[in-house]
Amino acid sequence: MSEWLEMGRISDLKDGVMKAVAAAGREFLLVRIGGQYYVADKRCPHMGGDLSRGQLQGTVVTCPRHGSQFDLQDGHVVRWTTWTGLIDVVNRLVRSPRPIRTYPVRLDGDKVLAGI
Ligand code: FES
Repeated sequence: MSEWLEMGRISDLKDGVMKAVAAAGREFLLVRIGGQYYVADKRCPHMGGDLSRGQLQGTVVTCPRHGSQFDLQDGHVVRWTTWTGLIDVVNRLVRSPRPIRTYPVRLDGDKVLAGI
């Protein structure tokens, strides 16, 4: 981590809402869940799906492209695509399961900051 970047304002983000954020030339996902804030990379590590357009259940975000799921608490893989059978086997050989990158968050007044 080299700097704290502003991801948004507390007053702008409702609970259970995901928001795409552009900062420092990169794309991030900002999420508020139960008063906690999470920041992760916006792009799915599988094939780059836009996680901000996915579904949120608790702290688990589901990619809209192939259904991979990641826990925003630490980025770990909950499910690696919804594919089954041979295509799943081949997929795992070509694109092995990998977590999304998550970032530490701190609040400064109304600002949500992420350590990038
Ligand atoms: S791009 Fe996200 S699951 Fe394939």
